[in-house]
Amino acid sequence: MSPAPDLQTVVSDIADEMRQRRDRGQVATYIPELARVDAQAFGLVVIDNDGNVAAGGDSDTPFSIQSISKVFTLTLALGRIGDRLWRRVGREPSGSPFNSIVQLERERGIPRNPFINAGAIAVTDAIVSGHQPREALGDILRFMQFIADDPSIMIDDAVAASEQRTGFRNVALANYMKSFDVLDNPVDFTLGVYFHHCAIAMSCRQLATAGRFLAHLGRNPATGHLVVQPERARRINAIMLTCGHYDGSGEFAYRVGLPGKSGVGGGILAIAPGKASIAVWSPGLDDNGNSHLGRIALEALTKRMGWSIF
Ligand code: DON
Repeated sequence: MSPAPDLQTVVSDIADEMRQRRDRGQVATYIPELARVDAQAFGLVVIDNDGNVAAGGDSDTPFSIQSISKVFTLTLALGRIGDRLWRRVGREPSGSPFNSIVQLERERGIPRNPFINAGAIAVTDAIVSGHQPREALGDILRFMQFIADDPSIMIDDAVAASEQRTGFRNVALANYMKSFDVLDNPVDFTLGVYFHHCAIAMSCRQLATAGRFLAHLGRNPATGHLVVQPERARRINAIMLTCGHYDGSGEFAYRVGLPGKSGVGGGILAIAPGKASIAVWSPGLDDNGNSHLGRIALEALTKRMGWSIF
C-alpha cells in the first residue's frame, strides 16, 4: 500500500492547479455588491480531526458566506425549538433552483428543505420568534463567532444593504409563505435578519474551523465545546449531502462524495465525517449557482485523500 498522501502537499498542489485554470464560472451579479469580487481569487483550507491545518491560496481573505450561513442557522434553530422546526420546513431535495417558488403553491407554503431560500427564510423566522430582529441577528453572529472560535467575524453591511435593495424574489417567497401562515413574524423582520446573516464575511480558515463540529460528532475538538449531539451532527450532514447544492446536489455527491453547502459568494463548506472540515472559495459560479472551481477542487481533494464517504 502506498503511504497516505501529505495533506499540505495535496492542498498546495490543488491551489496551484486551480490558479492556472481559465474556466472560472461567472461571479454572481444579482446581488450587485457581489459582482465586485475578484474572480481570480481562490482559497482552500482543510482542518483534519487531529487539528492539522493545511491552507492554500487566499485562505485568510474574508468572503460573503451567503447560503453557507444556512447550515448554522439550521443548527441554531434546531437547538432552540428542536424537531418542531420540521413542522415548517421539509427535508427533501427540491430538484429546483435555490430561489424557486413553484413548489410552495402545491405544498401549502412548506419549503422542501432548509437550504433553498424559502426554507432558510422559514428557519430564520423560527430564530426571530420571541426576539427583536437585532437580537436575533446578534445571536446568529455570536454563534458563528463561538463555533469559529473567533470574535472578529463580522457582517458585511454593504452586501446586506445591496441584497436588501434587490432581493425581490426573497420578498416574494416570504410573503407567499406568510400567506400560508408558515412565518410567524412580520416579513420585513425575518428578511432583514436573513439578508444580514447571508452577508456574514468569513475566510476559508474561519469557515473550516466553524465546520469542525460537523466532522467530529457535534464537538469542536479544538475548544472541547459540544455544539450539538452526535445524532444531530449526522443529520445536518445528511441534509447537506442531499440538499446542500440545490439542483446540483446529485452531481456534487457523485463527483465529490461529501456533505457540502455552497453559497453564491463562491464558498463551499464540505465535511468529511470523522476526518476533516474543508472550506474552499472561488467566486465564479456554475449554472446552479455553486462555485465552479470550488467543486472541482473538492473533487480533486477527495480523490487524492480517499475521503469520499461512498
Ligand atoms: O437569498 C439569496 O439569494 C442569497 N442571500 C443566498 C443565495 C445563495 O447563496 C445560493 N447558493 N448558492
